[in-house]
Amino acid sequence: MHKLAVLTGGGDCPGLNAVIRAVVRSANQYGLEVLGIKDGFHGAVEGEFIPLSLADVSGILPRGGTILGTTNRDNPFEYASDVNGIRQPLDRSEDVLRNFEKAGIDALLAIGGDGSLNISLKFAAKGFPVIGIPKTIDNDLMATDQTFGFQTAVDTAQEALDRLHTTAESHHRVMVLEVMGRYAGWIALYAGVAGGADVILIPEIPYNIGRVAYSVQRRAKQGKKFSIIVVAEGAKPLGGEMVVDRLFPGRSDPVKLGGIGAKLGGDLEQHFGLETRVTVLGHLQRGGSPNSYDRVLASRYGTAAVDAALEGKFGIMVALQGRDIVQVPLQQAVDQLKLVPLTDPLLITARALGIEMGD
Ligand code: F6P
Repeated sequence: MHKLAVLTGGGDCPGLNAVIRAVVRSANQYGLEVLGIKDGFHGAVEGEFIPLSLADVSGILPRGGTILGTTNRDNPFEYASDVNGIRQPLDRSEDVLRNFEKAGIDALLAIGGDGSLNISLKFAAKGFPVIGIPKTIDNDLMATDQTFGFQTAVDTAQEALDRLHTTAESHHRVMVLEVMGRYAGWIALYAGVAGGADVILIPEIPYNIGRVAYSVQRRAKQGKKFSIIVVAEGAKPLGGEMVVDRLFPGRSDPVKLGGIGAKLGGDLEQHFGLETRVTVLGHLQRGGSPNSYDRVLASRYGTAAVDAALEGKFGIMVALQGRDIVQVPLQQAVDQLKLVPLTDPLLITARALGIEMGD
């Protein structure tokens, strides 16, 4: 084992640079070289590699984003290519393997969410040594208690809720905050509890609009003339569908969610006469400096991935279980999404706090 490659794939998230730094620092201790792959799997297909030295990763621990760049579009197994002037998806995975061989890469450390880890799994199936590192603000990966980036996103959403509280209170309004999370309600649940929300709506529990309105009206009767509602982008009304903002054909996840906050706010005003304002937090949740929790977790993942490479453990993902970083089969990580179970301890706490979950 002489040379590792590292890439960041999918949506950016706080802590990516902290992982890259940890990989380079740890590899350096063992005399291993590290190549960074630019823009995720795009750079793997195009052979865009840059050597990463200790100097290159100096000072990047607190920086958001990724010094390597990323993309959630380019899948080497269905890579948009020009064939006789016509753009079509081609399997370019053999090009990737050739590029890796030419660059002398012995193993790939892929930092990604389910899209990038699924691609990684396919390379593992082709016999290339791959180690996954679980990233996503959505926290929706199986086999790990937590992905890095999630806690920072929760902090950002909680701060937004604190700020919305003051306007809600002053204007006696309903304030709706739409947060990310794709098909999982983790960000909404954690931020909602931390930010003192009155109503939390998550994809796992289709909501009854009548219940939501009733809980707002009941608060008003009790003298609380404002309410704060956190709605996950994947939430949907009972018998209804998730609200899709746009479709991106060709992406590993072509559906971009968004708009449920506006629907909910509109319904509360039109059908129940409740003055409502809607804020969509959007990509603010992905940006900025990682908090201390995510810096620590990212650093642990990065060093553990290098350890796994030295042990010759491939086709695995490093994962947090309890307080330990363990190795789990990559397959297990991508088999299904980790949604909020109805028995989740924090969901039970939310109900015990009297937070309306919409059901
Ligand atoms: O997976 C991370 C995430 O931020 C989701 O929460 C969100 O649905 C999606 O990515 C947004 O993707 P994009 O950056 O392509 O708009």
